[in-house]
Amino acid sequence: MSAKLEQDILARRTFAIISHPDAGKTTMTEKLLYFGGAIRDAGTVKAKKSGKFATSDWMEIEKQRGISVTSSVMQFDYNDCRVNILDTPGHQDFSEDTYRTLMAVDSAVMIIDAAKGIEAQTLKLFKVCRMRGIPIFTFINKLDRQGKEPLELMEELEEVLGIESYAMNWPIGMGKEFLGIYDRYNSRIEQFRTEEDERFLPLDENGELAVEHDMKKTSYYTQAMDDIMLLNEAGNSFSKERIKRGELTPVFFGSALTNFGIQTFLETYLEFAPTPQPRLTEEETIVEPLDQEFSGFIFKIQANMNPAHRDRIAFVRIVSGMFERGMNITLSRTKKSFKVTQSTQFLADDRETVDVAVAGDIIGLYDTGTYQIGDTIVGGKKTFQFEKLPQFTPELFVRVTAKNVMKSKHFHKGIEQLVQEGAIQYYKTLHTEDVILGAVGQLQFEVFENRMKNEYNVDVHMEPIGSKIARWIENEEDVKESMSGPRSMLVHDRFNNYVFLFENEFAMRWFNDKNPDIRLYSLL
Ligand code: G4P
Repeated sequence: MSAKLEQDILARRTFAIISHPDAGKTTMTEKLLYFGGAIRDAGTVKAKKSGKFATSDWMEIEKQRGISVTSSVMQFDYNDCRVNILDTPGHQDFSEDTYRTLMAVDSAVMIIDAAKGIEAQTLKLFKVCRMRGIPIFTFINKLDRQGKEPLELMEELEEVLGIESYAMNWPIGMGKEFLGIYDRYNSRIEQFRTEEDERFLPLDENGELAVEHDMKKTSYYTQAMDDIMLLNEAGNSFSKERIKRGELTPVFFGSALTNFGIQTFLETYLEFAPTPQPRLTEEETIVEPLDQEFSGFIFKIQANMNPAHRDRIAFVRIVSGMFERGMNITLSRTKKSFKVTQSTQFLADDRETVDVAVAGDIIGLYDTGTYQIGDTIVGGKKTFQFEKLPQFTPELFVRVTAKNVMKSKHFHKGIEQLVQEGAIQYYKTLHTEDVILGAVGQLQFEVFENRMKNEYNVDVHMEPIGSKIARWIENEEDVKESMSGPRSMLVHDRFNNYVFLFENEFAMRWFNDKNPDIRLYSLL
């Protein structure tokens, strides 16, 4: 591999921002893009979200609801790094796509609203990151408003998320009395709402403000110094290795809206964020980013990004080597080789053609039904398969039928393709073979309904059967169909494995008591 290519790969930082809706992900993304020079107008991303900026190639449903259904990719350069941010839907109706996007990143930035602390969606996404052992960087946002006490927030991180934390900086005051942050890592104080050139104040060797300043006389400064002392004495110690292993989360405080603490965050983040990481194959070999041969896997397929063109785009995370437009690739699953002429890179919603991309990058390949979620593509002659992407336990279910029985063929074809694409999960009842769809977010059903109509010309009837607890069975051979009941429905998944859909926790416990030999398990 050439030195230049090696350098290009090691410059990549690929991450996703995870947060609960309204914590400030869009605002943060916008500020990061702004610092990276990727957007000139700091209102672009926000305007897109609010619909003021609606472009034609926005999925219809996205326009209607003014939310981001798709996970797009944004790229910019900063301090010799090339940063790839993978967007995740910010609505509470997030979907499996959100989870799968986390399979394609090397680290995550978790944004927490200082007034709200850890919220439900953050917790779910955090768990997926934790499962992968990827480093998580925490940004506690909205310090310009009154929020919870910083120590309380740190405690919450450790208790609710079960991860150790290290405060990289610490707020001095909050809300109307927010004076700035005490930057432990850079040994300085960064003042809030202060002209650029006067923003930073140095600290002396005891960690006190080294210059005379009115701030010193305030109770907020004294409080912050007390807290810092406590952190120094009783807090976790800083460890680059533990951050890398995802065992310790560095915590930053700031305010995305007022653009405070973002640049410091970005610079420190880039210092510690991992370069592209190796991936395991099903054959249990490791593919390194610096391996010569190109390889990647598909973590998401998005249909109809542009309804006028009816295109599908397969999103590929490049694991090793370099991708060049026009190159020959082989799809491991089918062993078929073909030349890739159309590929796109994404910047917010402007799509550009990509000629060259390297390990760590995300590219989109135009797809006419060739790819499936989890597919591996390779550039060399030797094919292999990257480890399977995990399947996620759905929580919501509907029974679905075609409104017009004459459309049954299209109905089944549509379902088959959308299930393959990973848009929705498929189950069927044992004898009647009724189709039941499962999802982790309500929105997946809406997208399904919409796409069945527009792409397969089938109107579907969806009867909600509510939320259920889905459990797979370790010892399938011991399952008897008579165990199925109204509150513990036994169905088949798409691989014909048994799955119990329990009405609630109570129904599951009751089942467990009655059938102690049946070993249930959940997916992620
Ligand atoms: P999301 O993508 O995570 O859903 O959050 P988003 O950035 O859209 O932010 C949600 C709301 O929080 C927005 O207000 C945004 O302006 C506000 N916000 C983000 N960061 C900060 C911050 O540091 N301080 C304060 N005070 N507010 C912040 P909104 O009223 O819902 O929208 P808008 O009127 O600003 O468009």
